[in-house]
Amino acid sequence: MRGLFPKRLPKTMPAVVDIANKNLNDAYGILLPTAKHKDIRKLKKKHEPSVHGHKTWSASFALMDYLLYHPLKKHSRVLEIGCGWGPASMFCAKHFKAQMTALDIDPEVFPYLEVVAKINKVKVEPLVSKFEKLTDEQLSQFDVIIGSDICFWDELVKPLSKLIDRSLAAGVKRVIITDPGRPTFYEVCGKMKKKHKTVQEDWYVMDPKFFQGDVLEVRAK
Ligand SMILES: C[S@@+](CC[C@H](N)C(=O)[O-])C[C@H]1O[C@@H](n2cnc3c(N)ncnc32)[C@H](O)[C@@H]1O
Repeated sequence: MRGLFPKRLPKTMPAVVDIANKNLNDAYGILLPTAKHKDIRKLKKKHEPSVHGHKTWSASFALMDYLLYHPLKKHSRVLEIGCGWGPASMFCAKHFKAQMTALDIDPEVFPYLEVVAKINKVKVEPLVSKFEKLTDEQLSQFDVIIGSDICFWDELVKPLSKLIDRSLAAGVKRVIITDPGRPTFYEVCGKMKKKHKTVQEDWYVMDPKFFQGDVLEVRAK
């Protein structure tokens, strides 16, 4: 059963500022363009993401918030899987000076990611791939893997679980996934608990809008 809100005090209140006339929202110290932003309007005419990567999803704010409480080491090599527009990548690049690689199956998301990276003046390496196709050698290049709202179909449960297993075996130290609380995500949590050191917590954020979901952190035993 889903619990009540976790008993924790906000460490920082994220500044959420509508930057007048620029169609940018400021959340967790990063700027995110709204659908009305001029560059986004231009891109929408040419690029149409088709696997739900057409906007920033709220689970990414839960991931940012969790990382404020459980920070990354500075300059970590981080892979974001199912990045979409890459809000969490921007956050890690900005807050932890992470060396970011952002991966997505859908090439159509990357023009949006590029615009968001430019607005935030951060460097994020794009990678078009299915996450399940990553080789062990590729995985061994990362210290941390993150993802938000990436387990939304039954078909994703097995590949995501296997990817986490392989990542830890390849030397990745932390895998952190947030989700709105879909049954598919809980299936992955169940599988991970049997094999690895895991933390699964209810996580909510108030800004830019209220969101309640879950975070799963997996580490090697
Ligand atoms: C719901 S969106 C979330 C996007 C972003 N993480 C966020 O929170 O805003 C899911 C993303 O996962 C990507 N995706 C789905 N299946 C994938 C797979 N097997 N490998 C890589 N990316 C995948 C989609 O293209 C989409 O961009």
